[in-house]
Amino acid sequence: MLRLDRTRGPEDAALPAGRRGDERSNMSANGKVAVVTGGGSGIGRATSLALLADGWRVALVGRHRASLDRTIEQAGAHRRNALAVVADVSDPDSVRALFARTEEAFGRVDMLFNNAGVSSPASALEEVSFVEWSRVIATNLTGAFLCTQEAFRIMKRQRPRGGRIINNGSISAHTPRPNAVAYTASKHAIAGLTKSTALEGRELDIACGQLDIGNARTELADGLIAAARASGRSPEPMMDVQHVADAVLRMANLPLDANVLFMTLMATKMPYVGRG
Ligand SMILES: NC(=O)c1ccc[n+]([C@@H]2O[C@H](COP(=O)([O-])OP(=O)(O)OC[C@H]3O[C@@H](n4cnc5c(N)ncnc54)[C@H](OP(=O)(O)O)[C@@H]3O)[C@@H](O)[C@H]2O)c1
Repeated sequence: MLRLDRTRGPEDAALPAGRRGDERSNMSANGKVAVVTGGGSGIGRATSLALLADGWRVALVGRHRASLDRTIEQAGAHRRNALAVVADVSDPDSVRALFARTEEAFGRVDMLFNNAGVSSPASALEEVSFVEWSRVIATNLTGAFLCTQEAFRIMKRQRPRGGRIINNGSISAHTPRPNAVAYTASKHAIAGLTKSTALEGRELDIACGQLDIGNARTELADGLIAAARASGRSPEPMMDVQHVADAVLRMANLPLDANVLFMTLMATKMPYVGRG
């Protein structure tokens, strides 16, 4: 089921539809439209707020309305350019309705940030249940594909044509952590989705890139910290999630004839680069 709502301030109601969000003097986005999945927490929250502050109109997506509302509350005056859409990215009908609602509210889609994702409790490969495997793949991979497909359809037919898709990968898209087969496989697969999207988007003015993050401090990362402490290990170094939001904004604001295909953004002191 999909529940839809638009958070509008009183100023918004006073503006004609075509001028909503256009009264920005020194903002770089000029009312461009972004869809951010997982906008109710962590990286999605920080990125939604950065986009809104930069003048984007943003559809924030997640399964829990209260979390989306909490993000929007933090946007101050920019909240009139925010649309909360409760949707499950792993459900094709829900994703279809999400993009229809965004197009209805904002008229187009300029950028999709495929960010919604779940991790899994550490588990030896032979112990991973089918249910757990399916949950991670359905969210991290199928969800990103379904959103990409709907965004592609809109970006292909809208005028001006085109747009940008940014996939939230992970350093797990390149190198696994132990006991994380489903998450690792889902994130490796995202790299294939990024390349296919970039290739097929080329003729349609659709750019696609991937941000591979290592240890940004969010609730998801807090789970890693807790797991480390529980097993008597020191938690890994983390970085501020704002750096991720800044990077997505930089990628999003490039003109469509330029693209960051892959970017790795990680806590400098985390164990990732090998050999001593
Ligand atoms: N933090 C890091 O260091 C790090 C490193 C590498 C990669 N990443 C990636 O960054 C992304 C965001 O992670 P985060 O750290 O910000 O974690 P987070 O705070 O747990 O955010 C995950 C978000 O995804 C949403 N979500 C999950 N399943 C969904 C579904 N089926 N449909 C719609 N929304 C769904 C959640 O909202 P609801 O529960 O309300 O649906 C939540 O807002 C993930 O893809 C993660 O793999 C993070």
